[in-house]
Amino acid sequence: MTASTLSLDQLIASANADFAASADAPALENAKAKYLGKTGAVTELLKGMAALTPEEKKTRGAEINRVKSAVEAALNARRDALANDALNAKLSAESIDVTLPGRGRGSGGIHPVMKTWQRVEEIFGSIGFDVADGPEIEADWFNFTALNNPPNHPARSMQDTFYVDMNGTDGLPRLLRTHTSPMQVRYARMHAGDVTAKGKPIKVIAPGRTYRVDSDATHSPMFHQVEGLWIAEDISFADLKGVYTDFLRRFFETDELQVRFRPSYFPFTEPSAEIDMKFESGPLKGKWLEISGSGQVHPSVVKNFGLDPEKYIGFAFGSGLERLTMLRYGIGDLRLFYEGDLRFLKQFA
Ligand code: DAH
Repeated sequence: MTASTLSLDQLIASANADFAASADAPALENAKAKYLGKTGAVTELLKGMAALTPEEKKTRGAEINRVKSAVEAALNARRDALANDALNAKLSAESIDVTLPGRGRGSGGIHPVMKTWQRVEEIFGSIGFDVADGPEIEADWFNFTALNNPPNHPARSMQDTFYVDMNGTDGLPRLLRTHTSPMQVRYARMHAGDVTAKGKPIKVIAPGRTYRVDSDATHSPMFHQVEGLWIAEDISFADLKGVYTDFLRRFFETDELQVRFRPSYFPFTEPSAEIDMKFESGPLKGKWLEISGSGQVHPSVVKNFGLDPEKYIGFAFGSGLERLTMLRYGIGDLRLFYEGDLRFLKQFA
């Protein structure tokens, strides 16, 4: 039995069955052609109307239209159902378990030593110190000679040095700077003209990385220092005491801090002092702790700045940023700073 020989209701039932048997959109389009296409069963019925009388056309036309509507409705219903199935299949293939914890994005944080660095810049910046930066691979002259460590002087062995090149372009060694003190010389030589011509003091801090052949719980081959230098016509040891004590009280956020200047030796300062501090409360209460080297800049060093040591005088200091950080947060082992262990670092984020 072909579609054209079916009764009208059978035709509808047959279309329904064909559409239901179509498993996807192309199959459904083929089935549609069988009924509604150019030579489809419904189209043939309509063509057959041409031979009828006007009276017959009315009743037959209404019947055929009913069939056409029913077939179209069945087709649309099946189309919707297939689209729905496709969507469901896609959704379940890409299913998202909304009960899983989110992956999130780490927000990152500033390393505790860098926090100290920023804080030091902020405090000294607020009292008029400029901030300077300089090379980590340094010339022997800036790191040692200009700082009153003549060649072959035993004081050089106070700092175990990483040499990068024993014979630089000037025939002298290149090394990883052992302290930030060479920045005193670099900065002062760049600004000596402003001192003599405009009476502008040299007032600078230079934080940065420094290197020594050294490694244990309190020493790392790479560490950080901040150098301070204030040179003018009338800067005295009293200014050093005032500035540094004020810095420490602000850095540790307590006025209950005692500071003492203990005589010491550095080739580039005379007199020289080690700065010690003592907390009046907290876990380190009552202990004297060494925090910085300092002193009145040696006349030979002032001369190497390009300034007249008879006229210009001032102080310098060099402090370890790791040490300041360890005391601020109560950290016992310096190596924690460099291990990249998130359990440690997250505490400062
Ligand atoms: N550069 C010295 C060091 O690393 C620290 C120091 C001492 C710096 C005295 C200074 C100073 O500026 O005046 O051991």
